[in-house]
Amino acid sequence: YHTPEQAPNSEVPECAIAVDVLRATSTIATVLAAGGEAVQVFSDLDKLMQESENWQPEKRLRAGERGGGKVPGFELGNSPLDCTPELVQGRRLFISTTNGTRTLQRIQDAGAVIAAALINRAAVVKYVVDKEPLNVWIVGSGWEGSYSLEDTVCAGAIAHSVCQHTNLPIEKLAGNDEMISAISLYSQWEKNLLGLLHHASHGQRLLRLDCHEDLKYCSQTDILDVLPMQQEPGVLKKYG
Ligand code: MLT
Repeated sequence: YHTPEQAPNSEVPECAIAVDVLRATSTIATVLAAGGEAVQVFSDLDKLMQESENWQPEKRLRAGERGGGKVPGFELGNSPLDCTPELVQGRRLFISTTNGTRTLQRIQDAGAVIAAALINRAAVVKYVVDKEPLNVWIVGSGWEGSYSLEDTVCAGAIAHSVCQHTNLPIEKLAGNDEMISAISLYSQWEKNLLGLLHHASHGQRLLRLDCHEDLKYCSQTDILDVLPMQQEPGVLKKYG
C-alpha cells in the first residue's frame, strides 16, 4: 500500500495476510488464543493424516472440513466454538478445510504469513502499522475460486483501520479498485456485520447446516488479541 521510498523503516519486505472469516482463520485465531501449541494447515486430508501420525495422540487434534461439514473420522470440523481452552491447551491442531487452509499453503513462501479474521483484526493491524511491510497482500479465500463478501469485508476492515492509524487518506489507494471497494463495503456494513454474513453465500450454506452461532461469533470485531504467524511452512503459532 505504499512504495519502498515511503517506508524507510520497513522491517518486513512482504507480508501476506490470509483471510477466511467463515471460518478457517477465525478457528485458527481461536485455537491459538485458547492456548493451542500451533496450527498446522493442509490442503490434502491424506497428508494431514500422515503428518499427524508422528504426534502423540494427546498432543494433537485433527480437524477436517469439506463443504462446511465435518469430515468423517476427524475429531473436529471447523467450528471455532468447539476449540475451547480445555480441549486445545498445549495441543497442535492439524487442519484441512475447503478453502482457507489452501490459501495459507499457497502463500507460504511470502516473507511474513499471517491469518486474519474479524475477531483478531486489531492485532493484525497493529503488526502492519508497527512493522511497516513494504508490500501487504490481503488474500481472501472466497469459495472455490469465487469472491466472498465476508473475506472482502474483513480486508476492508483491516485496510480501513490501517489507514486510520497511519493517517493515510483513501485517495492514496487510488488505482487499487479491490481495496477501495473492500473499504466501502466495510464502511456500509460495519455496524451490522452479522447481517452481511447472513447475506453471504457461504453464510447461507452454514445457516443451512445450523451454524448460526458460528456466524454470530465470527462477525465480532477485535475480540481476540492474537496474531497467528507462520513459523515454518504451514505451521502457525501465536506471535509475540
Ligand atoms: C473453508 O476453508 O472453506 C471454510 O473455512 C469453510 C468452513 O466454513 O468451514
